[in-house]
Amino acid sequence: MKSANRNRVALITGASKGIGFALAEGLHLDGYHVIGVARTEPLQPYSFTFVQADVTSSSDVDRIAIYFHENQLPLNVLIQNAGIGYGGAVEELPSDAFFNTLNVNVLAIDSLNRLLLPLLKTSKGYLIHIGSVAGDLAIPFQTYYSASKAALERYSESLRNELKPFEVKVVTVKPGDTKSAFGSNRQKTIQENSPYRARIERSLKRMEADEASGMPTKSVYRVVKRLLKQKHPPVSVTVGLSYRILQGLNRVLPKRFVQWLLYQLYAK
Ligand SMILES: NC(=O)c1ccc[n+]([C@@H]2O[C@H](COP(=O)([O-])OP(=O)(O)OC[C@H]3O[C@@H](n4cnc5c(N)ncnc54)[C@H](OP(=O)(O)O)[C@@H]3O)[C@@H](O)[C@H]2O)c1
Repeated sequence: MKSANRNRVALITGASKGIGFALAEGLHLDGYHVIGVARTEPLQPYSFTFVQADVTSSSDVDRIAIYFHENQLPLNVLIQNAGIGYGGAVEELPSDAFFNTLNVNVLAIDSLNRLLLPLLKTSKGYLIHIGSVAGDLAIPFQTYYSASKAALERYSESLRNELKPFEVKVVTVKPGDTKSAFGSNRQKTIQENSPYRARIERSLKRMEADEASGMPTKSVYRVVKRLLKQKHPPVSVTVGLSYRILQGLNRVLPKRFVQWLLYQLYAK
C-alpha cells in the first residue's frame, strides 16, 4: 500500500492540529507526499511538508498553487479541512462573525478549489470536504457554523456532478464530535447581561463536553483512508456509528420533533 502511494501527492488544509494533523500524519505514513497548510506550524513533531498559509488570504492561496507549479507536483488528493466556529446568539455575535465563518468554511475552500481543480482533473483525484453532522442538525448558538457546513455540503454535491466526467471524486466527510482543539478555538460571545446568557453557557458546556469525550481524530483518518481506495466513493460519509444512526433518524423523523430534540439538548 505504501509503495502504491509513493508518487501520490495530498494537500491538506488546517494541518497544524486536530483532524487535519491526523490526516496529514496518517497519509504520510501511508506513503503519500503530504503537504499540510495552516497559519501556524504544528506544535508537535511532524513528518509532512508544512506550508504556512492563511486560506482566507488570496496571496497565500495563490502561493499554494504556485508551489505546485514550480515544483511540478501532481495533486492526487485535496482535503479541505480548515474550519472555524463561533459560539453565541445571532443577535449578539460580532457583526463580522458570519462572514468570517463563511470565509474560512466555504469561500476559502472555493478559492483554493478553483486554482487546483485543473491538477485534480489531470490526476482524476479526490476532493474531500470536511463537513460536519452540524450541517444536517442545526445547532442553536452555533448558527453560523451549522449554516456554513450545510452550504459546504450543497457546494460539494453540485461540484461532484460538474466534475464527474473528469473522474474527480468529490466527497463530504462529516465527523461527529471529535476530540480536538476546536472547542477551545471556538470564539465565544457571552454578554454579561444577556437574556441568552444561561442558555448559551449550558449549550456550549454540553457541546464542549461532547467534543472532549468525542472520537479520536484518527477515526476521521481511517474513514478518509478507506475512501481513497474507492473508485466510486459515496457522496458523503458520516464518521461515527452513533452519528450515522442520528443522521438516519433525522431523515425519517418529523422536522418539528428533531427541532424539539435539538432545543432540549442545545437551547434550553
Ligand atoms: N472537532 C469536532 O468535533 C468536529 C466535528 C465535525 C467537523 N469538524 C471539522 O473538522 C475540521 C477540523 O477541525 P478540528 O476539530 O481539527 O479543529 P482544530 O483543532 O481547531 O483545527 C482547525 C484547523 O484549521 C486551521 N485553520 C483555521 N483557520 C485557518 C485559516 N484561516 N487558514 C489556514 N488554516 C486555518 C487551524 O490551523 P491554524 O490555526 O494554525 O491556522 C487548524 O489546523 C473543521 O472543518 C471542523 O469544522 C470538527
